[in-house]
Parts: sequence; C-alpha cells; structure tokens
Amino acid sequence: MKKIAVIYWSNGGNVEILAESIAKGAREAGAEVSIKMVQDAKVQDIIEADAIALGSPSLDNNKIEQDYMAPFVKELKLLPSHNKALVLFGSYGWDEGKFLENWSELMIDYGFNIVGKLAVKEAPTENEVEEAKSLGKTLAK
Ligand SMILES: Cc1cc2nc3c(=O)[nH]c(=O)nc-3n(C[C@H](O)[C@H](O)[C@H](O)COP(=O)(O)O)c2cc1C
Repeated sequence: MKKIAVIYWSNGGNVEILAESIAKGAREAGAEVSIKMVQDAKVQDIIEADAIALGSPSLDNNKIEQDYMAPFVKELKLLPSHNKALVLFGSYGWDEGKFLENWSELMIDYGFNIVGKLAVKEAPTENEVEEAKSLGKTLAK
C-alpha cells in the first residue's frame, strides 16, 4: 500500500479544503494517507512517504506561508528526494497562481518530481475539489 503525506498550512480554510480533498482521493484509491498541518509535520513524514502533497496560500506579497511552510520546505533541500512524486496545491487572492509556479521551480531544483499542481482563487469550486481528489488518486498510483 502506498504511503502518502499531505502537509499544508491554512488560516481561512481554503487550502484545508484542498488538502482534505487530496487525502480523500488518495484514500479512495487505496493509499494510506497521513494529513497534517505543517506546524505538526516533521521531515521524517516526507522521508517515510512514497508520495507527497504540500499546500499553502499565497501570502506576504505572493509567497508561500513564511513562518512554518517556508522553513519546512527549506529543510527538504538537502534531503535525498530520489525524484519523489510531489503535488503542490494552494489558494491565492490575486497573484493568479504565480506563487505556486515559483514554489514548483524550487521543488524541481530540490529534486522532486512534480506530478500535479493546483492553484485556486480563494475558496475552491466544486470542480476544483474534484480536481484535488483526482490529484490524490494520481499520488496513490
Ligand atoms: C494577510 C493576508 C495576506 C495575503 N497575501 C496575498 C498575496 O500576497 N497574494 C495573493 O495572491 N493573495 C494573498 N492573500 C489571499 C490568500 O492567499 C487567500 O485568501 C487564500 O485563499 C487563503 O487561504 P486559506 O483560507 O487556506 O488561509 C492574502 C491573504 C491574507 C489574509
């Protein structure tokens, strides 16, 4: 059984809806899923997972959340990522997903294999929730 780690930061709940939808999709596809807010996550969660989803809103002038998510991501820099499958997801108010594109470039630089990306404007629509579930299924493959 595939082990999937879904790790996210959310204040208003928009990113949380996406995180829960990804987790649901992965579970439906038969994976063992752990879902955590980044404040409770450890690098070990990434090491132990076969595939990962990381989520954040766009904050502080179009960047991922800086107090918890950015330092956590930085810790992954020196990890032997072995091309591990990664989905990035998040929500923005006005940057049209630019923050997620920048984040994606960074994670590719760190050696991760980006298998999916989902950036939504504010609260996800029903279609976007379905898209998130389907990303969970992709990770479980
Ligand atoms: C303090 C604050 C700063 C924000 N900064 C940005 C920003 O720089 N760029 C942007 O596109 N959206 C920005 N937003 C909008 C959030 O990214 C958006 O509301 C997102 O859906 C929040 O996710 P959450 O509900 O999971 O916390 C900001 C929102 C807040 C509250």
